[in-house]
Amino acid sequence: MDISAVNALPYEDFVNIFENVVERCPLIPAAVWTRRPFVSLGDMEAAINEFIDVLPDSGKEGILRCHPDLAGRDLRSGALTRESREEQASAGMAALSAGEAARMARLNHDYKERFGFPFVICARMNDKANILQQLSQRCLSARPAERARGIEEVKKICRLRLQALVLPDAPNKL
Ligand code: GUN
Repeated sequence: MDISAVNALPYEDFVNIFENVVERCPLIPAAVWTRRPFVSLGDMEAAINEFIDVLPDSGKEGILRCHPDLAGRDLRSGALTRESREEQASAGMAALSAGEAARMARLNHDYKERFGFPFVICARMNDKANILQQLSQRCLSARPAERARGIEEVKKICRLRLQALVLPDAPNKL
């Protein structure tokens, strides 16, 4: 699917295809549909980022709260979205040792206790060691900085999810 095919999509198809480019936030593609036509995929990505950037802090934190924990309960119960499952697997989150899993669970818990939203990182751009190191470091941060950092990671995840859907040789999922 290329950008001209994206621009031609009816609203329902557009939202169905892009519903999870931001994890469990179909409101976002529903909102940017009116910004078509996009001149490029980067233009569509910019429209999504602009929508996110003008949200109040509560809205940004709401987006972060739509993300499941890395190596968390949803992974164990099979309740992850396909995108999150594949990303977490690529970062080794589905194959942690018992010790690593316990450390991850404790740090995820501490992070959420401190900030009130989950730790979000672009899993495809990091490996297991990196994720554990960043999680323990970011637990020491301040809430406004972590809110902004989490949103930057959401945008990286979104970019990779968009590229997987909209590239000339990517299958049109209609
Ligand atoms: N990074 C990539 N996908 C995800 C996800 O689903 N949750 C979190 N916390 N980080 C991610």
